[in-house]
Amino acid sequence: MNKGIAIYPGSFDPPTNGHLDLIQRGSKIFEELVVAILRNSEKTPMFSVAERLEMLKELTVDLKNVRLDTFHGLMVEYAKSIDAICVLRGIRAVSDYEYELQMALMNRKLEPTLETVFMMPADKYSYVSSRLVREVAQAGGPVRGLVPDVVEFKLRQKLDAANRLEEGRLEKEAAKHKAKRGKRKQ
Ligand code: PNS
Repeated sequence: MNKGIAIYPGSFDPPTNGHLDLIQRGSKIFEELVVAILRNSEKTPMFSVAERLEMLKELTVDLKNVRLDTFHGLMVEYAKSIDAICVLRGIRAVSDYEYELQMALMNRKLEPTLETVFMMPADKYSYVSSRLVREVAQAGGPVRGLVPDVVEFKLRQKLDAANRLEEGRLEKEAAKHKAKRGKRKQ
């Protein structure tokens, strides 16, 4: 085991089985692994930071050396503030490499003492991303096996609530049109 704190930063919107796989692998290598959710005011996420924290909390409850946190601004600054010596990132396929390399080198430029370590999740998760999970779920497709059960449940809850809201809006619209048509006929 490596002495020191490592940080696993990301959006985790939502956490996938690939993320969980990496957290488990990372927790075996580092003394302490801090899973850090970016609070990004520019993006409109599907899940709030509080919801993502809650899901990750449930998923990592048995991993005693895994801590959860949120950060904003530069990741290297946050890493420094918690004395992390290393950044953990996952590489699923060659297509990830270019972006990850660019980010790792930029982070090295910003903070030369902070190392980036890449790990590969299990190959069965090599095509799984939060973005695709959101897309499939939003289109009504199955995400079982791609995300942990608790995430699947929260996704369904969120999309059901959104659908109910949309149905209510459409019903109101239809009623308004009907009332207008009724008035014109009088
Ligand atoms: O899960 P993601 O969205 O691929 O994670 C990207 C993340 C959060 C690791 C990256 O965007 C980040 O570190 N953002 C914080 C801002 C920052 O430090 N940017 C410079 C990195 S090159």
